[in-house]
Amino acid sequence: MYRPELLYEGKAKKIFRTEDPERVRVEYKDDATAYNGGKKGFITGKGELNNRISAFFFDYLGKRGIRHHFLSLLSSTEQLVKRVTILPVEVVVRNRAAGSMAKRLGLEEGLSFPRPVVEFYYKDDRLGDPLINEDHIALLELATRKQVMDMRETALKVNQQLVGLMAEKGVDLVDFKLEFGVDGRGDLLVADEISPDTCRFWDRVTGKKLDKDRFRRDLGEVEDAYREIWNRLGEDVLV
Ligand code: C5P
Repeated sequence: MYRPELLYEGKAKKIFRTEDPERVRVEYKDDATAYNGGKKGFITGKGELNNRISAFFFDYLGKRGIRHHFLSLLSSTEQLVKRVTILPVEVVVRNRAAGSMAKRLGLEEGLSFPRPVVEFYYKDDRLGDPLINEDHIALLELATRKQVMDMRETALKVNQQLVGLMAEKGVDLVDFKLEFGVDGRGDLLVADEISPDTCRFWDRVTGKKLDKDRFRRDLGEVEDAYREIWNRLGEDVLV
């Protein structure tokens, strides 16, 4: 009998081998962490909501010409994705000041930018994911110059699409983080997840935070906020 092998367990997801070497199964967990594992918790229903929200966003972006790893939903908490090698670079796009950038540069949270700001972070828990620039990426050989250009361009396209989509749903996309992977053919794909764990979403009318900041800052109603995002996307059950 085929026994699924656990390839990797992260803070919010588990990755399993499948019978196809080019595909892996991702299981979204209810576990929540913040501040590089310094704060740990459990958000009931998060795994299911993030699995569905992420699938929805990948599908939406794919239909608009953005290449990603998502293939299909397998269950309420699992999805099938292309197997990729994740580049150790996190790409953050910001439309307003918030979080670490507001703190680093002394900007008032919520300040709206005339154009989006793209940042790169070195994905390394030991170092606490430091902010890096394109020269650091080249020096540390984390990605090629071409991959850096592609990541920047794709991240801005994702931003443009998701800002428009969320605005229609009455939500401001404040910022988000993307991870990229390289598949067996050498193609660069948007990978990991796109969900309230990795984006900041603010209600356009009330300013209410509908994302992981509710967990990070102990604001309560965390699951409700994630569910609100799912409800606004207006989707029925996908599986
Ligand atoms: O914490 P910071 O302000 O740098 O986060 C910017 C954006 O990237 C936020 O939407 C946050 O949720 C996301 N992020 C993430 N994973 C990280 C760091 C940031 O999803 N390790």
